[in-house]
Amino acid sequence: MTWLITGGAGYIGAHVARAMTEAGERVVVLDDLSSGVPARLPESTALVRGSVLDRELLDRAFAEHAVTGVVHLAAKKQVGESVEKPLLYYRENVHGLTVLLEAVVAAGIRSFVFSSSAAVYGMPDVDLVTEETPCRPINPYGETKLAGEWLVRATGAAHGISTACLRYFNVAGAARPELADTGVFNIIPMMFDRVTRGERPRIFGDDYATPDGTCVRDYIHIEDLATAHWPPPAGSPSGRAPAT
Ligand SMILES: NC(=O)c1ccc[n+]([C@@H]2O[C@H](COP(=O)([O-])OP(=O)(O)OC[C@H]3O[C@@H](n4cnc5c(N)ncnc54)[C@H](O)[C@@H]3O)[C@@H](O)[C@H]2O)c1
Repeated sequence: MTWLITGGAGYIGAHVARAMTEAGERVVVLDDLSSGVPARLPESTALVRGSVLDRELLDRAFAEHAVTGVVHLAAKKQVGESVEKPLLYYRENVHGLTVLLEAVVAAGIRSFVFSSSAAVYGMPDVDLVTEETPCRPINPYGETKLAGEWLVRATGAAHGISTACLRYFNVAGAARPELADTGVFNIIPMMFDRVTRGERPRIFGDDYATPDGTCVRDYIHIEDLATAHWPPPAGSPSGRAPAT
């Protein structure tokens, strides 16, 4: 198969691109480089520079590279910014996904993996969140991810596309230094930034029901997350079993 990874020059996308390449898959990356870094990509990986909102570019990339599967990571992902700029988030994350899915259907692509987020749950009142926990996003970012899941699921059912929506929790770590998360608003880079400048890390929140009042969150290591995209379950005819 040949996989097109949108947002593949980003923190998570570059790890997925590497995991798939190392597993022997052909990989091409489409990224507008709004926050992506081309140097994160393996040398052998073709980079198509542009947006998922550009339908002509998508059609051309799918045809030129004979793409048979898509992993869609390209998105805006800052919660606070999504509250200030909801139209930007709906355009990039929901309209962008619609354009991409239209191109996927037109190209006859049969496998689609979508980067969703734990933000779809909002503030669940249970300790253990499962796929059955009700989704009640509390900000536009989470809303766009939930709407994205609906779009992916409905399109997959209507057009016979095998789909999976992966709800990532907080992602941390790096497989190698050049792949590190450089996001200025993510907690791990923020902590290291302050520590290397000789400053104390800043922890927001002091009234949670925890021993020291700071919040407790779950993290997943980036390499575990990357390999969750690959290899596919044995016996899955299209290369990936539908998860949602
Ligand atoms: N990092 C996390 O903890 C986390 C948690 C849950 C979900 N996610 C999701 O995972 C995905 C990747 O996140 P990340 O942490 O790697 O972010 P990132 O900003 O490092 O990567 C996003 C990539 O998408 C590209 N991009 C953005 N808009 C684009 C567009 N319109 N067309 C083409 N490329 C575009 C950017 O240039 C960047 O390379 C996102 O969908 C995000 O919502 C991330």
